[in-house]
Amino acid sequence: MARKIAFINYKGGVGKTSLIVNIAASLAMLGKRVLLCDFDTQSNASIWLLKLERWNKINATGEGALFSIFEPGVAQLKDIIIPDVIEGKAGEKLLPGLDLIPTTFNLVDLEGDYVGDPTRPAYAIFQSQLAAIESKYDYILFDCPPNILRASQCGIFSANEIYVPANPDALSLIGFTLLVEKLQKFHSLAASFRTASMGNAAHVKGIIFNSIKTGSDIEVPKMRMQLRLNQFKSAKRVGPTAKIFEAQVRDAMIVRRAVTLGLPVVLVSQDQAQEGQDNVVNDYRKVAAELVRQQE
Ligand SMILES: Nc1ncnc2c1ncn2[C@@H]1O[C@H](COP(=O)(O)OP(=O)(O)OP(=O)(O)O)[C@@H](O)[C@H]1O
Ligand SMILES: [Mg+2]
Repeated sequence: MARKIAFINYKGGVGKTSLIVNIAASLAMLGKRVLLCDFDTQSNASIWLLKLERWNKINATGEGALFSIFEPGVAQLKDIIIPDVIEGKAGEKLLPGLDLIPTTFNLVDLEGDYVGDPTRPAYAIFQSQLAAIESKYDYILFDCPPNILRASQCGIFSANEIYVPANPDALSLIGFTLLVEKLQKFHSLAASFRTASMGNAAHVKGIIFNSIKTGSDIEVPKMRMQLRLNQFKSAKRVGPTAKIFEAQVRDAMIVRRAVTLGLPVVLVSQDQAQEGQDNVVNDYRKVAAELVRQQE
């Protein structure tokens, strides 16, 4: 059965998209079948993996984009998956096993006046369409914006696990705290739409520190995060095994460059990709390996 995992923090810009794209790529390189769903109307993950030219074509019409599954009779999730999404200049497949559900700017229409089916919220529609395809995957990853509005709710409702990317600062801690409160509210609101086969509502299972500057000491922000995590664990508001990941991702220029190149960091430089080297590629690999172990 696919592990369904949402990455979210109520603090923006902490590295949710960079982490999820590079972890998805690392998992695909391990031979896992991975589906990445982009729930952010900014479409950062989609633009990154499709590159601007391919993404522009979808954005121009909205055809094949996530929002189309919420328009009655237009499309189903299974129809809009882009298989083996990463392509080279000649259209060759560079990373078999990494599929994408792409998003375009029209996803914002889900938030405002969207009515859809008044008896079925968007998250229930998404979840039932996902259930039809999830057996094809080992990992289904949800890149969420820093909120739990309608698009994000689709990921939170369908997920079984939640991970919180964080920077070593006070705002990330506030973002995490706010997230746990909002999660509780959303899960109780959505409870009547959960079926037995879906399993339990997802709680936070891990915090992943990102963008750590070389030589910086993050012990104090880490300790504060651990204290908050302990409080939430005692109150049973996060998962019983929730922890701060041992692996963390350093701040590295190549992460920003990778976006421009339209490739995950693991595919940018073969020199960087040597196993065992002390670099950001291996930081992502270690986070991916720890994520795999979190299940065991
Ligand atoms: N490890 C890193 N090293 C250097 N830059 C990074 C790293 N991780 C992320 N960044 C940069 O930080 C910025 C924010 O990252 P990203 O878009 O992944 O955050 P986000 O949490 O998804 O943001 P949003 O809340 O807008 O969705 C980007 O410019 C990204 O390139
Ligand atoms: Mg993002």
